Amino acid sequence: MADKETITVIGMGYVGLTTAVLLANSGFKVYAVDTNKKRLDVIRQGRSFFYDEGLDQLVEKAIKEERLLPADSSSIGIPKSSVIFSCVGTPDNPDGSSNLSYVFSAAKEASKYIRPGSIYAQKSTVPVGTGQEVSKIFRDKKITYISNPEFLREGTALLDSLFFDRIVVGGENKDSVEKIISLYKVIERNRDSIAKIAGIKSDNVRGKYISTNLDSSELIKVTANAFLALKISFANSIAKLADHTGADIVEVMDAVGADRRIGRAFLNAGRGYGGGCFPKDVSGLISSANEHGVEMPIMVAATDVNEGMVGYIANKAKTALGSIKGKKVAVLGLAFKAGTSDARRSPAVKLANILAKEGAAVLAYDPKANYEAREELSPKVKVKQTMDATISGVDVVFIATDWPEFKNLNLKVTKKKMSGSLFVDTMNCLDKENVINNGLQYIGVGRK
Ligand code: UGA
Repeated sequence: MADKETITVIGMGYVGLTTAVLLANSGFKVYAVDTNKKRLDVIRQGRSFFYDEGLDQLVEKAIKEERLLPADSSSIGIPKSSVIFSCVGTPDNPDGSSNLSYVFSAAKEASKYIRPGSIYAQKSTVPVGTGQEVSKIFRDKKITYISNPEFLREGTALLDSLFFDRIVVGGENKDSVEKIISLYKVIERNRDSIAKIAGIKSDNVRGKYISTNLDSSELIKVTANAFLALKISFANSIAKLADHTGADIVEVMDAVGADRRIGRAFLNAGRGYGGGCFPKDVSGLISSANEHGVEMPIMVAATDVNEGMVGYIANKAKTALGSIKGKKVAVLGLAFKAGTSDARRSPAVKLANILAKEGAAVLAYDPKANYEAREELSPKVKVKQTMDATISGVDVVFIATDWPEFKNLNLKVTKKKMSGSLFVDTMNCLDKENVINNGLQYIGVGRK
């Protein structure tokens, strides 16, 4: 494959690394900039520093072919690049607003080296209106500023990027918008061979390319995440009602979601949403709306529902057991969802911490997230290296992340290993009848 033009990607998080390897595996020469030298070292060795299906294979190939070039400074690649993608983190401030310090500092640093005529494309999730401010940094430099939000999910980053629903590119300069779209079209042309190397498959046929103005593009991203969060909290609200009746929330949402106007996705009730995106994007939206004098009570309610779910589930277990104090419990799963090693703001970690705080002896295990969970996990929680060691002799098992190995548990064997018989399915991912038929007591969310 002949080298195409040179591109720089700033910020090697989930979004940045995925973008960089896809471009590199499509023939571009890509400088991968990050200030974290440890991350760069891992990439240099041909691996990703986080788990995501298929990514290691693509990093390895791009490094071997010298198309992916880790760099600890913007000064190395930016002078040679026609397009710069900014993929830096946008954490939240203690008041819930978006912390844009990395967005601005990356742009300021890039502006020192960027050559006239280049495009600066923002992939970081930012409140609407941010681009208007950031673009002022490039005002005198003949640079066009573009918003190009990312919709990939952790754990399925490659799948979502290659077999996308839509690529959104927003900006005032039509040629630059078209230029960014053309890069994605190159990736799309190479997608079958890239997917083959990564070992992933999808039947999603063709997504849409959507061009908009700058503000719309920024608002599209946060609105999409907020709406998905809203769907989850809505499902959880109905699940609480189902708990007081004979209705089963899974049956309810299967039928409600069969209406194509509604859709079944993101209507799974359970311990609520976590991770590095939904919680901060929802609070960022509320805060940015407030700055414009707009109230967002619907999202405040979604947040409240979400924050209450783990306590709600812990209380259900407490009621079934009489008391949780002194009980030996297993928490299976610590990642904020299956398929990732990420345990940031994980409801599973929150559950383990609440149970430990209430006096239970908590053992926890995750196939990928044991290490990353440590930061937010209470020291009282004992992390185990195997599922067997976690469930032996426990009174209760909580399924806190829907990893396939938990969904496919041999319940007969598990029952023998436990000393009690309570099974709490915080993600409604088990076959309720099967659990009961194996002599276990089942508690789900919205499934009596
Ligand atoms: C989310 C969006 O889905 C992506 O489109 C977006 O690009 C990304 O944020 C981002 O802004 O970077 P992600 O945070 O990786 O992706 O995870 P999701 O798969 O959306 O799940 C978020 C949380 O919702 C998880 O804790 C999951 O367990 C929970 N969830 C999801 C539910 O509780 N119920 C559901 O029905 C679906």
